[in-house]
Amino acid sequence: MLNALKPQPADKILELVQLYRDDPRDTKVDLGVGVYKNADGVTPVMRAVKAAEKQLWETETTKTYVNLVGDPAFSDAMRQLILADSAPANRIASAATPGGTGAVRQAFELFRMASPEGRIFVSGPTWPNHLTIIKYLGIEMVEYRYFDNATRAVDFDGMAEDLKGAKAGDLVLLHGCCHNPTGANLTQDQWKTVGDILLETGATPMIDIAYQGFGDGLEADAFGTRHIASRVPELMIAASCSKNFGVYRERTGCLMVMSETAEATKTTQGTLAYLNRQNYSFPPDHGARLVTMILNDPALRADWEAELEEVRTGMLGLREQLASELRQRTNSDRFDFIAHHRGMFSRIGATQEQVLTMRHDNAIYMVGDSRMNIAGLNAKTVPLLAEAIVAAGV
Ligand code: LMR
Repeated sequence: MLNALKPQPADKILELVQLYRDDPRDTKVDLGVGVYKNADGVTPVMRAVKAAEKQLWETETTKTYVNLVGDPAFSDAMRQLILADSAPANRIASAATPGGTGAVRQAFELFRMASPEGRIFVSGPTWPNHLTIIKYLGIEMVEYRYFDNATRAVDFDGMAEDLKGAKAGDLVLLHGCCHNPTGANLTQDQWKTVGDILLETGATPMIDIAYQGFGDGLEADAFGTRHIASRVPELMIAASCSKNFGVYRERTGCLMVMSETAEATKTTQGTLAYLNRQNYSFPPDHGARLVTMILNDPALRADWEAELEEVRTGMLGLREQLASELRQRTNSDRFDFIAHHRGMFSRIGATQEQVLTMRHDNAIYMVGDSRMNIAGLNAKTVPLLAEAIVAAGV
């Protein structure tokens, strides 16, 4: 029976992790998978996470099941972190999920149940895993214009025009902040226009927010999500704690769904529990518990916010440094977009061939679409990358 299986295509991002590991050169630079690394190339356990784990080890008395949708305290803490008071709590159904990807998967499944004929509008480009999950679930997909390869900024006129083609029963997938893979983001005014278009078309938005705190700060990064929540009747939010809490392997995330009425929310909440039960039963608890402890304890929270801010400003510094190195080497400002992009990633607009040249000649590993993880750099490797970008003729 198993002989009938066909090989599946490898995930391009995860494949790169292995290629990097296998490269013996000690000058190699990993700008691939979206994992934060400090200047020493280490992905640290955040201080507040360590402290919460210690507390938990001392106080936890049972490992029995929690709840099909996770601990309600986690849902509450995440709702406040992301939505603040932009939406009434009694219209938000929520379920803990295995990471942000688990939330994305559950959201698409919920969408398919609610709107079997509906289409999902995705940005061109988007995180590749969005595309493969949508395809896997057999949902029709429509790409809207997003990244302008010439300016390396958002093609907002194109985006607005394409989003007007959505209709009630369709889902419009947006990145809450720190767009992956491009690093190009909407301005506050553009978020407002997107809100207008959603109301005009009646399409339902879904916001994937996996990097809150990595762009312009925890509050600023939630602007778009809160604005949309305050305007539209229905919304789905897939949130990840992998990056901003650094709890990648704990698989910590949640799906929040805003329904039109408190009554409808009860059915949505029941459906989220049903979907969890069908797919994996109880969601992982350890990471969610740590996140809840951190968000609800003023001292832990202050320390977490301070460390997150160090991470964010560190990445901004690297962006500035790289843009400046490239300004000097090219005698132009054409790479200044790197300093304007936000989050962990920038798509630098190199061809696949140029990406491979940098990999071959300089042991620089970025994803084939020329997405680089800015956190993979440090003050010493920035000039090496700038040199390689110029040498490859980008
Ligand atoms: C990424 O885009 O690199 C991260 O979100 C990690 C992943 O799972 O792909």
